[in-house]
Amino acid sequence: MTHQLSELTAEELRAFVAAQLERSRGRTVQLTDAVDTDDLVRQHSRLMSPLVWDYAHIGNQEELWLVRDVGGREPVRQDIDELYDAFMHARADRPSLPLLGPAETRQYVVEVRDKVLDVLDHVKFQGSELIDNAFAFGMIVQHEQQHDETMLATHQLRTGAPVLDAPAPPPGRRLATPEVLVPGGVFEMGTSIEPWALDNERPAHPVHVAPYVIDTAPVSNGDYLKFVTGGGYQDPQWWSEAGWAHVQKASLVAPRFWELEDGNWLRTRFGHRELLPLDEPVMHVCFYEAEAYAKWAGKRLPTEEEWEFAARYDPATGRTRRFPWGDESPGPQHANLGQRHLRPAPVGAYPAGASPLGVEQLIGDIWEWTSSDFKPYPGFRAFPYDEYSLVFFGTDYKMLRGGSFGTDEIVARGTFRNWDYPIRRQIFAGFRCARDPRPEELG
Ligand code: AVJ
Ligand code: FE
Repeated sequence: MTHQLSELTAEELRAFVAAQLERSRGRTVQLTDAVDTDDLVRQHSRLMSPLVWDYAHIGNQEELWLVRDVGGREPVRQDIDELYDAFMHARADRPSLPLLGPAETRQYVVEVRDKVLDVLDHVKFQGSELIDNAFAFGMIVQHEQQHDETMLATHQLRTGAPVLDAPAPPPGRRLATPEVLVPGGVFEMGTSIEPWALDNERPAHPVHVAPYVIDTAPVSNGDYLKFVTGGGYQDPQWWSEAGWAHVQKASLVAPRFWELEDGNWLRTRFGHRELLPLDEPVMHVCFYEAEAYAKWAGKRLPTEEEWEFAARYDPATGRTRRFPWGDESPGPQHANLGQRHLRPAPVGAYPAGASPLGVEQLIGDIWEWTSSDFKPYPGFRAFPYDEYSLVFFGTDYKMLRGGSFGTDEIVARGTFRNWDYPIRRQIFAGFRCARDPRPEELG
């Protein structure tokens, strides 16, 4: 849908934007109304902001870009900009700031939204890069959805009785083959045409990828458990130097939220303790754990280029498509997105989401660690602000692709790029393996 925005009339575009604003706000309200006011202001983990910070930060970004910049209106509350500037205060320090309380926050975001809907009523979607195809609105909708996923991760870290619920995902199935040979070649990576693609996804550019083999599914809990029980965390041969230093310092012995009790492996998921589901993709592992497992399995992680080639290249036409299944926006049959289910779906649950080569669950379920650092694409231009991508380029972050069950479809483009520190485990991240082909496989 979002790729065809330029074909809409101004009225249709307005209606589409209004619907997306309402949908993201519905999710934010659901995530914040689910807990009491004490829970909203509490620090559930030093890795995360209090939920009430994310909530007001969502409103503040919306005010900065849509009320003040696009709308040219007077500030709603200029006095709080500094409190909700992510670069001014580290997450761990945010609870001690004089933040707006829950009631004040709710009032603030409603006030901002009312102004934004008025701006939306009057804006002409042309004349500047910021408003062509309603880009600034799309950026703000995605910003809210990204923070909603962050708040969902905060929910996973909070203790106490479960407050969120959702139906179980569709059942898994056995895949015909565990891995496929990808022939490689030159493909067009990134995009210059998706109207709501963010700066780091641009521009489209040719990339050469050598032939490689990639797993048809993410690594499952059952597969990963063999690494855990086989002594993988105690054996430095599987770990990079940085990974081994980290696993020792942090005393890692299994993925986060796993525990061994009376001989049974359990995992905790949004307050539910349950037997570890062996057929579900492994989640809450850091980059170093993914890298170590891959080495133990005789494989490696895919590069970001290999991941995108597998997800978007159509060998029949040589064309790069939007998604593994084609150009159609994700439906519930294609991928586990948008918090529709509160867990990754078992391996094989989305045959309709397969790529032409038979690679499955690339979009949704879990973010997938890749071996790549966060680099700008050739021709990158920071837009509309340096702090979205530019300031993060370098070797500190590893790239994640594909989105998780907690990522909204408006964010989970085939070109979307996510990044985090290689030690982070609270995000909804897992991985799949790749390897170089053996000579006989190349024929
Ligand atoms: C792209 C998910 C790494 O949450 O830090 C939110 C998105 N940028 N507010 C993050 C973002 C500004 C970002 N990630
Ligand atoms: Fe933000």
